[in-house]
Amino acid sequence: MPFPEKFIDELVDRNDIVDVVSGYVRLSKRSGANQFGLCPFHSEKTPSFSVNQEKQIYHCFGCGKGGSVINFIMEIENLGYRDAVAFLARRAGMAMPQEQEDAESRKRARMLALNKDAARFFYEQLSTPGGSRARDYMARRRISPATAKNFGLGFAPDTWDSLEKAMRQKGYSDFELADAGLVRRGKNGGFYDTFRDRLMFPVIDVRGSVIGFSGRILGDGEPKYMNSPETLVFNKSRNLFALNLAKKSKSGYILLSEGNIDVVSLHQAGFDSAVASLGTSLTPEQARLLSRYTDQVIIAYDNDGAGIKASQRAIGILEKLDVKVKVLRLEGAKDPDEFIKARGPEAFRKLLEGSESQADYRLRNVTGKYDLTQDEQKVEFLKEASDLVARLPGAVERQVYAMRVAAMAGVPNDVVADEVERRRKRLVRSAVRAEAREQERPERQSQPNERELRYDDPVSARAEEGVIRLLSLDPELGKQPGMPPPEDFSSEALGHIYAVLLERIRRHLSVSSANLGEELSAPEMSLLVRIQQAPVSLQQGRRALEDYINCIREHKEQRDQKNAPLDLLALAERQREKGKRYTENG
Ligand code: GTP
Ligand code: MN
Repeated sequence: MPFPEKFIDELVDRNDIVDVVSGYVRLSKRSGANQFGLCPFHSEKTPSFSVNQEKQIYHCFGCGKGGSVINFIMEIENLGYRDAVAFLARRAGMAMPQEQEDAESRKRARMLALNKDAARFFYEQLSTPGGSRARDYMARRRISPATAKNFGLGFAPDTWDSLEKAMRQKGYSDFELADAGLVRRGKNGGFYDTFRDRLMFPVIDVRGSVIGFSGRILGDGEPKYMNSPETLVFNKSRNLFALNLAKKSKSGYILLSEGNIDVVSLHQAGFDSAVASLGTSLTPEQARLLSRYTDQVIIAYDNDGAGIKASQRAIGILEKLDVKVKVLRLEGAKDPDEFIKARGPEAFRKLLEGSESQADYRLRNVTGKYDLTQDEQKVEFLKEASDLVARLPGAVERQVYAMRVAAMAGVPNDVVADEVERRRKRLVRSAVRAEAREQERPERQSQPNERELRYDDPVSARAEEGVIRLLSLDPELGKQPGMPPPEDFSSEALGHIYAVLLERIRRHLSVSSANLGEELSAPEMSLLVRIQQAPVSLQQGRRALEDYINCIREHKEQRDQKNAPLDLLALAERQREKGKRYTENG
């Protein structure tokens, strides 16, 4: 029985390939989206083993091995597919689908129950006499009791063991509390509460489970926040504060801010799609999670240097996932909370309506760097701004922004428009050259590393690779009429990969490499990953697909003609010749 797709997707989601590989390989060099290290599968002195976090695959340019995180574990731990899956499930604290009742998942369930009880305990403390300190603080920050209830906010009393005692009474052991990060072990071997005298924010995942806590100090002091440590159920880089609430919003966008207080304050003011990352800048996993719920994110980070930097990072990460990004300009306030307190929800709504597209945002950052009253700086500004505009994908967009740049610098529109076009042409030319270089690579290099998969007909094989590449990027293409049968492929391995993809596409199943692990052999998987690594433009997808298919057909016909008078002896001779040639080539 194959694993449910959702299970494999979650498994891959929770086992980031960079994390996993880093347990075995020191990834030291970075080049574009790839991180490099010394390949664990063959001996080498310079790093040719690459890991791509975005695509969640690895690939060694030296020995050609590659695949998803599952293939990596199969290879390095010497495990079969199912055992590798079990290995990764354990690593991520996930229960195997068929083992719902096993110890691991009981432990998770138990920790979630404990977190829920702890959240209830903290919430109840709010209305005790001792909770007046927290109530006063909330009043100062203008957090209403209704908001506190909506978020399940609470108070961790100013004692060493209130939570510990209460949870012990409910039957949890100190060790369970320690595993959940709710208590810590002191020097004398005893346990004491982690969170003391803090306003508590439970972190609730999209399924509604309390997975951890953030505790803010009541007033000034260090550290301002304490967060639960990473536990079996809490992974900061894969969760967002308040996404459990924001996912229900009807607003059509998600508001991404920095602070827990900002989120609470935004929700209270009616902006119910606000979330915050948990004390880090936005991670790719968090971005992927967001992209499941929205296709538009509005960034409302703090109005300081760190906030601007974090915004730029977040824009880059989100854009790769085709999420539209806008950035709010909080003038005269340090963060959304302060803005709303000072100017009210209506002013904030106006801000949202006028929020900048990321092109505006970038342009404003460029503008900020130069003094446009100085001629020399104006020239530098025009160069940098034109380059920015030249990279915008739409022609209309380029025109509009070129005009804006011209107005800012006080030069005629044509000056900027011409400069933009010149730069645009240069960009296109270099992209075309890069593509041509790719096409002209010597055939030997485009041979698979695995001897048994060598191509007999490299030209047809390249077209076959092209079809596979397009299908893995845009599975819809596989539903077109007129797709060739796998038997038409010259390479058996490519034919098999193609057949598997086609079958999955027809059954509306995922074609991500992690989901193919059971159907493809390890060499086939490595080959697939190498194919997927090559750059491709989907804009001409359908055209390119036709060209590839025609090429495959022609070559198939040629081969058929050659083999028509079935002269077995001659055929055997040819095969022997071929075998020799490839052995000589290495
Ligand atoms: P205020 O507006 O100052 O009340 O707080 P805030 O909730 O808006 O938080 P702030 O903007 O200062 O920080 C943003 C986020 O970074 C917080 O929500 C925390 O998740 C995290 N953070 C801030 N300070 C600390 C700290 O001292 N330790 C840790 N671990 N995280 C922190
Ligand atoms: Mn803040």
